[in-house]
Order: sequence, then C-alpha cells, then structure tokens
Amino acid sequence: MESAVNAAIARQTIRAPLFRAHLGSVLIVASAIFLPGCSGIQSALDPAGRAAEDIAELFWGMTIGAGIIWALMVALVGYAIYSRREPHTPRQASWLIIGGGVAFPTVTLSALLIYGLALLPELIAPPPEGSLKIAVKSHQWWWRVTYFGPTGETIELANEIRLPVGEAVEFELESADVIHSFWIPSLGGKVDMIPGRKTRLVLVPTRTGLYRGVCAEFCGTSHAIMSFDVIVSEKQDFTRWLNAQSTPAAAPASEQAILGAQLFQANGCGACHAIRGTDARGVIGPDLTHAGSRRSIAAGAMKNDPQQMKHWLSKTQHLKPGVHMPSYGMLPPEHLTAIAAYLESLQ
Ligand code: CUA
Repeated sequence: MESAVNAAIARQTIRAPLFRAHLGSVLIVASAIFLPGCSGIQSALDPAGRAAEDIAELFWGMTIGAGIIWALMVALVGYAIYSRREPHTPRQASWLIIGGGVAFPTVTLSALLIYGLALLPELIAPPPEGSLKIAVKSHQWWWRVTYFGPTGETIELANEIRLPVGEAVEFELESADVIHSFWIPSLGGKVDMIPGRKTRLVLVPTRTGLYRGVCAEFCGTSHAIMSFDVIVSEKQDFTRWLNAQSTPAAAPASEQAILGAQLFQANGCGACHAIRGTDARGVIGPDLTHAGSRRSIAAGAMKNDPQQMKHWLSKTQHLKPGVHMPSYGMLPPEHLTAIAAYLESLQ
C-alpha cells in the first residue's frame, strides 16, 4: 500500500515539472498560430478604415465581456463542486435563478444590442455628395473594377483597387454569375454580391498602405483563389495613378513585346480580353490595358512578373481549376515568353 502511494507521489513529482515545461511550448505554439491573425494586410483586428475600427472595437468589447462571463461561470462551477455548505433555501435559490438566469442576461444582451445598434448608422450612412464611386462586378474567380472619370467615362481594370486615404468611397457591387461576397477586412465589413441586384458598401480608409480583399462566400472550385489588392495612398498619388489608368495602352517598344502583341492577336486573346487602343475588345475576361502595372495576376494568386505571367499562361487550368480561360501550354515557350513580355510592358 505504502509503496503504491510512494509511486503515485513520484509520478506526480515527475509530471508537474513536465507539465510546466510543456505549458511553455504550448503557449508559444498557440501564440505563433493565433497572434499573426491580429495584424497584417488582411486582418479585421488591425483596422485601417472607419468601419473596421468600429467592428474591431465591438469585437474586443464582446471578447472581453465574454471572457469575464466565462471566468465567472467557471468560478460558479468550482463553487458548486467544492462548496460544502448546506443547500440554499428555496428563497435563495429563486433569487439566484432570477438574478443570474433572467436579470443578468437581459441586462447584458440589451446593453450589447443598444451598443451594436448605435454603431449601425455610421456603418450604413450614405457617402457625402460627390464621393468617389467604384463599381465592382464579381466573376468566377476574379473582380471587374470600374472607376468613373470626371466626365463620366469609365476606366476598367481588374483585381486591384486603389483608394485615396481619408475619403469616403461608395462601392456598387454586383455579380456576373453566382453569389460572391466582397470583403476588405482591414477597411470594413463584408457585403454579398448577388446576381441580378446591386448592393452597396461605403468605406473610409484611414491609413495608407497595402491591404488584401477577398471573396467571403463559397462560389465554386477556385473560391479560395479570388482575392484582390487594395492600395490606399495619398490623394495626389491616387489621382496620378487613375489618370495613368485612363489612358490607352502604350504601343509595345521592345522587339519581344512587338512579337508578343502580334501573337496576342493571332491566338485570339482579344476575343475575351480588351486592351484599350488596340483591336482587342473582348469583354468576357479581365481588361488588360494596364496589366503590367498591377501587383498580382490571376486575382491575387501570383506575383506579377514575366516568369509568373508565362507560368500562368501555360498552366492556367492547373493553377486555377475551372477558370474560363484555357491553358496555352501548347504554344512554343518562346511565344509564351513574348506574350508575357508584351503584357508586362502594359504599364
Ligand atoms: Cu467568389 Cu468565393
């Protein structure tokens, strides 16, 4: 008997330091997994927009509140298990049920509802007259982005949105095929894009920088490869960029780019893609007038450089399964290199 007790004590004394040693590792691993979610280009907890600030504040308020209530519940469970007191009288028990079971949740949830409703007017307020308006149409699996110039002309691009800091912008959202959802976590909440109807979202970026927008509604095979770059800059940089985007494509200058432009037409790319200022006037796929100026290709899937562009052209279906564009891997590699050089020259 005594030896069994000694063995149990010995096991305990070995386990306790072992547990403490592992607790440290567990905490480090847990921090490594969860903390990066609190910052970065796609974090609702690292707000860079007015709506995102409100949402983050609501999140922290609810998390801290829920944490306090959880700790209280654990304490009550501990009290129930370890308390050796006499049972409560019926009167005491009723008060505990009325207080803890009715009054407390009613007060807490009402306060939360009022707080949430108070945030709403700002989140859904229309933008000031004359604000920037951007139309975004979602496709499987990319984003058609249209800006409106001062005289009402449209400037179309794809998978990249630039915004001036500190100004309200109104997004007019619609879908070309299935339900998608437009979400730039750093700037604000998400809104569904529904076929056959237009939805709206107003965002006010408060900090310059690079952010990442995503599709937040499962929309088919390549839903996870449907993101876009968001670049918030000072007004003058934004205006300079938009003016550049409004111009037609530059004529190819290098020998390789000239060959690429010919191959682009010869292989029928212009049936789906438009390049303003050329014979390519397709409307099915992304506008490529300034394709080379974008940060990424294939809706945020790859870095935009000549090698990646060539890779994308030759393995399209492999890189984004189910996308409408076929793979052009059957073209000779030097032709693909030339087409990639042409597209990269479209700054
Ligand atoms: Cu589009 Cu998910």
